[in-house]
Amino acid sequence: MSGKPLSCGLLLASVLRSTPGFPLLLLALLLALPAQAGRDCPCQEPELCRPISHYPDFEVFVFDVGQKTWKSYDWSQITTVAVFGKYDSELMCHAHSKGARVVLKGELVLIRYVQSIGDVSLKDIVDPSFRASWIAEKLKLAKKQYMDGINIDIEQEVNCSSPEYDALTALVKETTDAFHREIEGSQVTFDVAWSPKCIDRRCYNYTGIADACDFLFVMSYDEQSQIWSECIAAANAPYNQTLTGYDDYIKLGINPKKLVMGIPWYGYDYTCLNLSQEDVCTIAKVPFRGAPCSDAAGRQVPYKVIMKQVNISISGSQWDKDQQAPYYNYKDHAGYFHQVWYDNPESISLKAAYILNHGLRGIGMWNANCLDYSGDAEAKEQTEEMWKVLKPKL
Ligand SMILES: *[C@@H]1O[C@H](CO)[C@@H](O)[C@H](O)[C@H]1NC(C)=O
Ligand SMILES: *[C@@H]1O[C@H](CO)[C@@H](O)[C@H](O)[C@H]1NC(C)=O
Ligand SMILES: *[C@@H]1O[C@H](CO)[C@@H](O)[C@H](O)[C@H]1NC(C)=O
Ligand SMILES: *[C@@H]1O[C@H](CO)[C@@H](O)[C@H](O)[C@H]1NC(C)=O
Ligand SMILES: *[C@@H]1O[C@H](CO)[C@@H](O)[C@H](O)[C@H]1NC(C)=O
Repeated sequence: MSGKPLSCGLLLASVLRSTPGFPLLLLALLLALPAQAGRDCPCQEPELCRPISHYPDFEVFVFDVGQKTWKSYDWSQITTVAVFGKYDSELMCHAHSKGARVVLKGELVLIRYVQSIGDVSLKDIVDPSFRASWIAEKLKLAKKQYMDGINIDIEQEVNCSSPEYDALTALVKETTDAFHREIEGSQVTFDVAWSPKCIDRRCYNYTGIADACDFLFVMSYDEQSQIWSECIAAANAPYNQTLTGYDDYIKLGINPKKLVMGIPWYGYDYTCLNLSQEDVCTIAKVPFRGAPCSDAAGRQVPYKVIMKQVNISISGSQWDKDQQAPYYNYKDHAGYFHQVWYDNPESISLKAAYILNHGLRGIGMWNANCLDYSGDAEAKEQTEEMWKVLKPKL
């Protein structure tokens, strides 16, 4: 896979010269191998199937969930695309032509998950042979699809001092070792919650996992997944809360260069049980992992939908000084008030300033498909603005 057909040809010629009685059958087999690899490469240029080997100074890590909107992304900035939608060889070839890595989604779909409803235990990964076969399967897929690594996305509950706690660290370490060994220059990353303090009962060995992989993608969003105080609508990624999360990762001893800041390109639409004069929106109590209420009372909405709705809302875009985030209120057809919290270039650039100030590795978003790529003039401007704030600014 790594050798170009030309160099294989040269190698064969030298073998032939030095081995007069070389068996014909073996020769035929040898000839068939490079031809097979070349034919499998779906790109116009076979070298686009080779893994990316250069390491960027600043990481821009993009989650893609499908369709063809990737054609309109700002490829001058992207360094990695995590493919969470259907595999698209055209996307792989294009990313490689821009020097960007393409990585697999590393999820754990457990049999138990299919059979039951709700949270899953990670018990299977305690078994080293389960881990080995999981890694072997992912590696095989990555090679077949000419991918440059894997993004491990396991968001399940883990207790401290449980067998799963150490097994998860082992899984990440073994995956990284296998990928680095088998795919040159490959990248293994792990998605973590906005804070290391057992958010959503995810008590992981964060320092162990950070050491075991190339970097952590910090999901600085869904920060209202566990609301312990008043059940009211609030920002998806409030300024202080978000940055406190990074402070806490760094305080644990994790090198800032192992942290990529994940920002949301979506918001939450909450139905208000009551909307006060002061814009306090009381929400339904939907418990989550021990907390009495959560953002599960709301509905996730992509930025492109928010941008269409904000001007026709009753409040227009408002700015919350405490959370440093925009929101608006609207009334639905049934007469209910809603409050929508989101992120825009202003709120994102405030948080992104932390990246340079604290030497984080880069930025990324969930997810790149959330913007309006239709091309109409206003949408185009809004979309470009969102990409632009990813650029590090001093
Ligand atoms: C974690 O511990 C609690 C209390 O001991 C238990 O009820 C729960 O099932 C455990 N969760 C997992 C994922 O093992
Ligand atoms: C986390 O993992 C590392 C590496 O495996 C290990 O040395 C360390 O003791 C673990 N930390 C805890 C708190 O278990
Ligand atoms: C709704 O808010 C108004 C104004 O803040 C308040 O007077 C009223 O008691 C609230 N209603 C409920 C059901 O909480
Ligand atoms: C929404 O309002 C902003 C600022 O007031 C304006 O620039 C923009 O053109 C408006 N968009 C629409 C769709 O009306
Ligand atoms: C945010 O953090 C800063 C610094 O720690 C503090 O001064 C400020 O009061 C905090 N703001 C809110 C709304 O919590």
